[in-house]
Amino acid sequence: MKKVEIDKNKIPNHVAVIMDGNGRWAKKKGLSREFGHKAGRKAVKNIIEACIELGIKNLTLYAFSTENWKRPKLEIDFLMELLLLSLKNELKNLNKNDIKFTTIGTLEKLPRKICDYLIKVTNETKNNKSLTLTLALSYGARSEIIDVVKEISDKVKNNIISSKKIDESVINDHLYTRFLPDVDLLIRTSGEKRISNFLLWQIAYSELYFSKKLWPDFKKKDLYKAIINYQSRERRFGKISEQINN
Ligand code: FPP
Repeated sequence: MKKVEIDKNKIPNHVAVIMDGNGRWAKKKGLSREFGHKAGRKAVKNIIEACIELGIKNLTLYAFSTENWKRPKLEIDFLMELLLLSLKNELKNLNKNDIKFTTIGTLEKLPRKICDYLIKVTNETKNNKSLTLTLALSYGARSEIIDVVKEISDKVKNNIISSKKIDESVINDHLYTRFLPDVDLLIRTSGEKRISNFLLWQIAYSELYFSKKLWPDFKKKDLYKAIINYQSRERRFGKISEQINN
């Protein structure tokens, strides 16, 4: 699949990725899981670069789920250090490439120094415009929905909002992703066909794309393939084909 085959007028506005398969990639090579995560970081850089080249405005990456806290402590510590190192190394590049960095998830569960650095990078890139890069960290869609319910019910109790006025836009405005549009294309690598508690509300009308590639092997051409496949689909949002084509 080549970049020239991509229709520039039908670029997805928001691409979200479940980056899966770092561990299996390392195991296949007889390496420790840490090597897989390091290689995964390179794949992240590649895909961000490709998104900028294609003019994709929003990229959301599932970097650490609420369930990932159940992994061995050594692996969690490694992932946290890798994240911190990446943020420190890439801050300049984010600004150079006009990338706005944001996060979703329960950041307060992350180690203090990481949380502080995430806030710093978010603040120092907040005026950038070309791509909004969002990392889902300590993120779980069910926790997000629980937080939305709590926030809205508090507002109802305090007469800030009437329960009769609760609609989709009210829910959208209380999600962690309130600053993002709906997801157009959700990609999962490594051959697994699961959503794993990622953006459950936001993917209601997304196109789903599953790649057999393990995340460290997912290259720019694999993203092009996913986008070309996305562009071949008819998104009807519940309507019939004729309504879409007229
Ligand atoms: C999934 O592979 C990957 C993760 C849980 C972590 C994601 C981390 C990276 C891509 C590397 C660093 C990223 C940043 C943003 C600095 P897995 O470990 O679940 O693989 P497996 O299913 O094969 O075991």
